[in-house]
Amino acid sequence: MKILGISYGTLNGGNDAMVKEALMGAQEEGAEIEFINATTLDILHCTGCKACVMGLFGGKGNACVLKDDMQWLIDKMYDADGLVFSVPIFEKCATGLFHTTMDRFGPRMDRGNLMIAQKIAEQGGKPIDPRYLKDMVVSYMGVGGSDWSTRIEADFNTQAMTPKWTVIHNEIYPWSLGIMVNDEYLARAHQTGVDTAKAAKKLLDGTANIPVGIMGEDYKSAPGVCPHCHSRNFFLQEDGKAVCCVCGLEGKIEVEDGKYRFVYPEESLPHAHDTITGKFIHGDDIQNNEKSSRSKLASPQMKERKKKYMEFIKTSKPGE
Ligand SMILES: Cc1cc2nc3c(=O)[nH]c(=O)nc-3n(C[C@H](O)[C@H](O)[C@H](O)COP(=O)(O)O)c2cc1C
Repeated sequence: MKILGISYGTLNGGNDAMVKEALMGAQEEGAEIEFINATTLDILHCTGCKACVMGLFGGKGNACVLKDDMQWLIDKMYDADGLVFSVPIFEKCATGLFHTTMDRFGPRMDRGNLMIAQKIAEQGGKPIDPRYLKDMVVSYMGVGGSDWSTRIEADFNTQAMTPKWTVIHNEIYPWSLGIMVNDEYLARAHQTGVDTAKAAKKLLDGTANIPVGIMGEDYKSAPGVCPHCHSRNFFLQEDGKAVCCVCGLEGKIEVEDGKYRFVYPEESLPHAHDTITGKFIHGDDIQNNEKSSRSKLASPQMKERKKKYMEFIKTSKPGE
């Protein structure tokens, strides 16, 4: 059983220490361990070219055209059975680099897309790496210099949703200056490693109860407000509707005994973005939209408009 720890903080800084502490915990559970500081890697931004999606649905695998360290990082992740991330909080969210790796997972590592691509491959296409279809567990630690941290847990759960990893811990560590001498924080990080390794072991033993969504029976962090994905982030609409920012379920926020409760119609559950059914529904919606937009996209008016905007002004670049 292998646990990989990934830090997005400065080299030898607080986030590195938190990941290493978690790895010590995982090692106690018998895990083989590995550590990566993501800031030392060459990871380019997703350009949105969609070559990976076309490859996926064209039966040509799921490669990315960018040549950098991302595929190496993906291989490292999928060689493991469980992952522990520690990510600095920047502007209340996960860092830009974390978001970039999340974007680079994008359509090509989406579990639903990969399942469809695998079916296509069975009819004569390039097979999907079987590691990409396996169940994995993940824990996240968000480390902040202050307590401005309201969006990072949602970022973490959103990242887990694409590959459909099961979240074990998702926690925030505010006021983290001097984290290496904060015994309470270090103990929590250590326990995070222990719990992640235990959950990974259960997956390998075949004794884990694989959840429908991204949270399973082994989930250890705050219960949150969304009963499905534990999110505390909601998109509140003027008409009283609330949309969970992570799993996308639509319902209402109610107050009971002074506590928030998110209620949604039971029949909407198969639409949750972290479920395979939800992923397939989303995939169908995109396909149908593409089909119905095809004639518009190929129209002379579209060509004219494209030309108009291209010719109107060029992008400025340094040195020009
Ligand atoms: C650009 C930037 C934005 C930051 N924004 C926040 C923030 O919104 N909330 C917060 O708690 N800390 C914020 N911080 C503090 C970092 O989270 C903190 O420096 C980091 O966790 C230290 O980790 P390290 O020792 O591993 O490098 C910010 C730091 C930087 C550089």
